[in-house]
Amino acid sequence: METIDPKYEDFKKNLNRLINVDLNLYKEKQMKRRISSLLSRNGYKGFDDYFEALKKDSELLDQFINYMTINVSEFYRNLAQWNVLKDTIIPALKAERNGPLKIWSAACSTGEEPYSLVMLLSQFYNLREINVFASDLDEGAMKKAKEGIYTVKSTTNLPIDLKNKYFTKEGSMLKISNDIKSRVEFKKMDLLKDSYPKGFDLICCRNVMIYFTDEAKEEMYRKFNQSLMPYGVFFVGSTEQIISPDKFNFKSSKTFFYEKIEKK
Ligand SMILES: C[S@@+](CC[C@H](N)C(=O)[O-])C[C@H]1O[C@@H](n2cnc3c(N)ncnc32)[C@H](O)[C@@H]1O
Repeated sequence: METIDPKYEDFKKNLNRLINVDLNLYKEKQMKRRISSLLSRNGYKGFDDYFEALKKDSELLDQFINYMTINVSEFYRNLAQWNVLKDTIIPALKAERNGPLKIWSAACSTGEEPYSLVMLLSQFYNLREINVFASDLDEGAMKKAKEGIYTVKSTTNLPIDLKNKYFTKEGSMLKISNDIKSRVEFKKMDLLKDSYPKGFDLICCRNVMIYFTDEAKEEMYRKFNQSLMPYGVFFVGSTEQIISPDKFNFKSSKTFFYEKIEKK
């Protein structure tokens, strides 16, 4: 059992008041270790003088949010699962639904995931029929998403035809085309606090739930389930399989993909 550190408890409370982010819902040990190492790297002695500085310095606060939220992403992250999406999940949803699919990339970070979804769907639908809703807590990350400039490395998994079609070189970087960008709507949302939009056929929430406590995750599974249409699909990250999905009204359809069970 971890002993309670009053300084960290105060830091969490004060931070929640300052930016409305509740660190109690993130795995404690991991988050505390990360913040401690960030503050000492920046020359602060402890949580209290660091918080005083965060209050006064908006740049430092942005740096903190950026670090705490861990924005790493890439196009077609975990390629095998994107192949399952293309070969099985999307064709089944397309056959089942009349018309375009409603898709949500929850915790979209710098845009690689929602833009990957648009590119994948472009193989099934006209671009103008594709709309992906993308949300994240970190506005700085979504600003980068809207700029759409990426490293070559982040596109390693992307099929070469999609890369050639939808990216242009910009110095040593790659710029994604407006045709893809314009199909995504970004919105700031805290998955731990805000109410969830509804009516989706597919929800991707990948590589963020690992940072949350079990209680927070379970609440999210319930909310995502309610956000899905009948037989809608929930796509999670490679280390985020749901234990006992039936408890949350899901059944596992493929590894890392869960289908909403319809209640009789
Ligand atoms: C590692 S990235 C995942 C990006 C993408 N889904 C992927 O799998 O590559 C984690 C993202 O979760 C976001 N995040 C962290 N806590 C959040 C919260 N409470 N609500 C919404 N997004 C959150 C971070 O800002 C970050 O962009």
